[in-house]
Amino acid sequence: MTEAVYLGVDLGTSGLRSLLVRENGNVIGSAEAACSARHPQFGWSEQDPAQWLAAFDAVMQKLRAAHPKELAALGGIGLSGHMHGATLLDSADTVLRPCILWNDTRASQQAAMLDAMPDMRAITGNIVFPGFTAPKLMWVEAHEPEIFAKTAKVLLPKDYLRLWLTGEHVSDMSDSAGTSWMDVGARAWSDKALELTHMRAEQMPRLVEGSAAGGMLRAELRGNWGISGPVVVAGGAGDNAAAACGAGCFAEGSGFVSLGTSGVLLAARDQFAPDAATAVHTFCHAVPARWYQMGVILAATDCLNWLARNLGRSAGDLATALPDAANGPGNVMFLPYLSGERTPHNNAQLRGALVGLDVADTPEQLTQAVMEGVCYALRDSLEALFVTGARLNQVLAVGGGTRSRFWLETLASTLGLPLSLPAGGEFGAALGAARLAIAASGAAGLDEIMQTPPIAETIDPRADLAERYAAGYARYRALYPALSDDSALRAG
Ligand code: XUL
Repeated sequence: MTEAVYLGVDLGTSGLRSLLVRENGNVIGSAEAACSARHPQFGWSEQDPAQWLAAFDAVMQKLRAAHPKELAALGGIGLSGHMHGATLLDSADTVLRPCILWNDTRASQQAAMLDAMPDMRAITGNIVFPGFTAPKLMWVEAHEPEIFAKTAKVLLPKDYLRLWLTGEHVSDMSDSAGTSWMDVGARAWSDKALELTHMRAEQMPRLVEGSAAGGMLRAELRGNWGISGPVVVAGGAGDNAAAACGAGCFAEGSGFVSLGTSGVLLAARDQFAPDAATAVHTFCHAVPARWYQMGVILAATDCLNWLARNLGRSAGDLATALPDAANGPGNVMFLPYLSGERTPHNNAQLRGALVGLDVADTPEQLTQAVMEGVCYALRDSLEALFVTGARLNQVLAVGGGTRSRFWLETLASTLGLPLSLPAGGEFGAALGAARLAIAASGAAGLDEIMQTPPIAETIDPRADLAERYAAGYARYRALYPALSDDSALRAG
């Protein structure tokens, strides 16, 4: 008998990536297809769900061309996706409007209103952030009432892919935890939260654990892609939970820091220990009876890209102009709130700042300031995680920003945490999704599947700089009130 293979698919905002792996997790091949978002108005961010299906089909055709024999033996698919998006369907499953994405802030007012309702934080364990799903439906009710009236189902982006793959309305716990409609401790839809936004339980998909089966691939699609046997589609996960699966972050004390477009500091939890006021996200993990908590900053490498764009240089150029060793903090202070902030401020209106500029400052000094500002913002997330009772002894460092040695050493020293760098290979959300597919097909147990990746190197905090970065962090904290007053003035 041919050995079954598994597919992990990560639907990202800018593209869909899929990874074909063997039962032992070894990679056979990967394929990608681009997606794009539209920003028709300030703060809006939308995507046409038809793009996701076309991207999925494109990667399947690429994988079929490159690995026909292996793909024929596909036994399971795991889905990961960008979270919080609202895909609205009518009773015939027709898409009613473009999906409103996680980084869309049009529903800020509705989010604040819902967040202030007495039971919301207690039920969901989280602040209702503007990017979350429920306030988007309140916005649709107010601005597009005819669409609201026709909405028979609301699906998260990866679950719309699943509907096409399996014909079923299903979601998993980890992704659904970011809707503000879920009782995250009980891992079930909350009738109360739904009612507060004039929604009904029948508009929600059926819930399964990420590592459980969530449907079977339709025969027609198996035919299109040359797959011979039945294919289970796992519950899957929101992208951060999937990344935690790929990185093997399950036990208390384990976690990762991601320097991507946005920044994430994630801690795995074996209990539900929310503290919404910290602006930490407390979500279900993709496996039963586990949760994770994370601080999310909305701009990490995005800040470096912003600086590069404005200096007419590339981000890589700016990063390589700095030395390898941390030597800060510099005199210029950068507050990285280019798109508002989630943790710890929950302030969509907030914007960033450069402070302490000198006539002699150079692009290098600005680059250093930008990197340090992102590190301080992640230190804010670490402090917020500590308040919830999470602990982190050492974290895996992932994302494009980890290519800069200077940034890594600065981050380790600002957080006071050793950072482990995975040794090449795969460890991201697509691998996490593939691992959930293996789990859902029953091919192996969770402990066996969800291993941590081999570590190439660990970057330790620089003891000689600890005091200086602590002072830099205090200065950073002291600047926030002025910015928050300024954003109130501008909005006012
Ligand atoms: C998590 C979040 C992002 C998106 C897009 O709360 O908003 O991580 O999932 O990647």
